[in-house]
Amino acid sequence: MITTNPFAQLNTLAPDIFTPGLMQAFIILMVLLVIGGTIFDVLHKKSAKYFFENTKKGQKNAKREVSSAERKGLMVKTLTNEVLTSSEFSNQKRRLSHLLTMYGFTIFVATTAIMIFAYPQTVDTPILALLWHLGALMLCVGGYWFWFAIRVDVAAEGKPWYKISYRADMFILSLLATCTFALLWSFTSGAIGMFFFVLFIISTVFLFGGVIWSKFAHMFFKPAAAYEKRVVQADGSNEGLPTVPDLSSSEVHEKFPDIPTYMGENPENMGAGIRREPANHY
Ligand code: HEM
Repeated sequence: MITTNPFAQLNTLAPDIFTPGLMQAFIILMVLLVIGGTIFDVLHKKSAKYFFENTKKGQKNAKREVSSAERKGLMVKTLTNEVLTSSEFSNQKRRLSHLLTMYGFTIFVATTAIMIFAYPQTVDTPILALLWHLGALMLCVGGYWFWFAIRVDVAAEGKPWYKISYRADMFILSLLATCTFALLWSFTSGAIGMFFFVLFIISTVFLFGGVIWSKFAHMFFKPAAAYEKRVVQADGSNEGLPTVPDLSSSEVHEKFPDIPTYMGENPENMGAGIRREPANHY
């Protein structure tokens, strides 16, 4: 069961309805919905305009020029850190849950496309089918962990797990519904199997068709924002924010005599207050 191609099985069950052409057209439609939704989102929120204006502003305030070789290095770092290993998350549980969700989704989507385009009528595709189930399972583990225990509403604000905020939760809920119903469809048969299949298709349409309302497009925007953040730190413009000086330096003491008076000659770096203890004071 876990090693059989569920789409080819569907084709065997009703070859006149679930034709390879129909399944492939459905995938193409989902891709078009994501592209269309992302473009609409960018135009509607004017995020690209803001992004380029902000970049220009940063360039004006730059203290040094970042060479193209250095930019390439920053791109590689963004790819290996923020994109591939979710390094932006300082909470390690959140990071692990994001990695499971992200890689689970990628494996699930890639194997779905390969099975439908390359093997729509081959029921026996053990490795691809195994990866498809594994991807869905990884997403469920990371996603349900996030939903029940990690997301800020539950972990920091004490709200019950079943409290839903329609737009904010649309992405995670449609991800979870898609992969949960995919697994349930694969593990059942007959009328119950068909019931889960219908739910799987409905949640898939919500996931890919809801890009303009959900957080889906963050997977395209976040890498660009993470790269830009590295550039503004490298060129010294730092989004117009002041750099935190060395509090024990004599130059800083001369400029700000309050520092040695109240904090001593060698104040320790106390770091960001927000990370000192978990937010759970509800
Ligand atoms: C297959 C791709 C991806 C999936 C399935 C995915 C999934 C998710 C999920 C479920 C959340 C929680 C959203 C929520 O609060 O409801 C999230 C948040 C986040 N993701 Fe991803 N992600 C993907 C790709 C990426 C990439 C490539 C990056 C960075 C380069 C990234 C960075 C982030 C960050 C920083 C957050 C926290 C943002 C926030 O809480 O508003 N994600 N992601």
